[in-house]
Amino acid sequence: MLKKYHKKRDNVKVKVLFVCLGNICRSPAAEGVFLDLLEKKNLLSSFEIDSAGTGDWHIGDLPDKRMREAALERGIELTSKSRQIQKQDFARFDHIIVMDDSNFENVMKLTEKADEQSKVKKFTDYQPNSKRTIVPDPYFGGKEGFYEVLDLVEECSKGFLNALKL
Ligand code: 4NP
Repeated sequence: MLKKYHKKRDNVKVKVLFVCLGNICRSPAAEGVFLDLLEKKNLLSSFEIDSAGTGDWHIGDLPDKRMREAALERGIELTSKSRQIQKQDFARFDHIIVMDDSNFENVMKLTEKADEQSKVKKFTDYQPNSKRTIVPDPYFGGKEGFYEVLDLVEECSKGFLNALKL
């Protein structure tokens, strides 16, 4: 009986924004992996997904080549273009999902409204067997860091989707 109240109406979309620092490694990976999960569960039409960075260095860029190659090895093509998070994103999105504590602080500084701040969560909060408390920045490291990001965002994506109770 209760379950029906969790069911989404057809025309209502859950809007999710994934955020990291540069929007070329972790948040595009989170966007791509979460979209892949939604596609497999036939839930794509119920969601609007985007990603952004707190920084502005890479605006307009495709995701980092190393991230794109690592994702492609898992059959996931990352095609987003980097953009910087805007104040208006707090009104537009239902969930603003950040990758680490620095992202969290930087995003929280962009609004003083409690209802907007309450939309901001770390992705690792949704990891069921949480050993990691952040999705680590792979930018200055080796190839294995990019695989680690993909593993983590896959686990967090499953936990987040479960938490939405669709
Ligand atoms: P991201 O990784 O936040 O996961 O996209 C980074 C990308 C670029 C830089 C740092 C982190 N950077 O310093 O340019």
